[in-house]
Amino acid sequence: MFAPNRYPLLFLTVFVLVVGSLGCDGSTPTEPDRDIPDVDPFEMNARLARGVNFGNALEAPREGEWGITLDARQFQRAKEAGFNTIRLPVRWSNHASSTAPYTIDASFFNRVDWAINQALSRDMNVILNVHHYEEMASNPRDHRDRWLGLWKQIAEHYRNYDENLLFELLNEPNNQLTASLWNEFLDACIQEIRLTNPTRNLIVGPVFWNNTNSLPQLQLPADDDNLIVTIHFYEPFMFTHQGAEWVNGADAWLGTQWFGTTQDQAFVTNILERAAAWGTTNNRPLFLGEFGAYSQADMFSRVRWTDYVAREAERLGMSWSYWEFMSGFGIYNISNDSWNEALRDALLPPATTAVAKR
Ligand code: BGC
Repeated sequence: MFAPNRYPLLFLTVFVLVVGSLGCDGSTPTEPDRDIPDVDPFEMNARLARGVNFGNALEAPREGEWGITLDARQFQRAKEAGFNTIRLPVRWSNHASSTAPYTIDASFFNRVDWAINQALSRDMNVILNVHHYEEMASNPRDHRDRWLGLWKQIAEHYRNYDENLLFELLNEPNNQLTASLWNEFLDACIQEIRLTNPTRNLIVGPVFWNNTNSLPQLQLPADDDNLIVTIHFYEPFMFTHQGAEWVNGADAWLGTQWFGTTQDQAFVTNILERAAAWGTTNNRPLFLGEFGAYSQADMFSRVRWTDYVAREAERLGMSWSYWEFMSGFGIYNISNDSWNEALRDALLPPATTAVAKR
């Protein structure tokens, strides 16, 4: 029989180990049932290579409300085209209870499982995020625990998945989620996820919508070696977001072109090079998680810009994922199963997809 008074040190050690490993709600987290390979983040970033966002589906208030319902053929087409990675934006906050422990609907979990497995079974990587948790931007302090509670469940649920499933903590922290608050929050979130996913590569980006200018304010736990840093790039914004219905005043920018002059190119390159320099100084790999030009821009400009940004990202050692596959920025038309070939080829130049498909 175990008598604590006879073995005080042993009792204390067991107590510390048990209590110290409790999750944020006090329950015991579960470690993976098997070894998940611990992949160096630079190696993992190289594997992410060329990706695409399956946007406007699972991050709509309800799937289908923004015109996209996922199906197997879409994953098949992305694979055939040569994409290595699917970034899967998910609005978990609409599918979970508002009080602790913030239980996520089982049927929604099943749906996300299905989508992830569609990509993994085709040997593509998946980046699973928390997208459009809008209250995290408007009222972060009140939503912190719920956001951590969502991650506790997501992390535990997928803990046995292979290393080619990556988690991205939060899409585009902005507004009231200031840099200092975000640094605090991301640290707590990483600690929570590490209880069940000790070595999975995690993706995290700076505030102000993952803006490259905010990189210097991003503080990551120095002792965590499985982190990839994400940035989003939509510059010049008046070109990429012309006519965008969700941006005030965007109609006034209609007709803005991108010719790719020396000056146009230097503007893009300068921003991306500064981001890359931050990555080098801080020894973190960079993932360009979103870039794209909306369908209201003229096609020649979109193709030139997309090609230029993708090649520059590659030159600078970044992986990337285009925003997005089959909606307003899209390269694939779900209604007639056809491609916007010029845009697809700008992303995946035919001569190089054999490399990308490896
Ligand atoms: C948002 C989308 C938006 C895109 C471009 C994404 O992060 O989630 O709703 O279309 O950025 O603005």
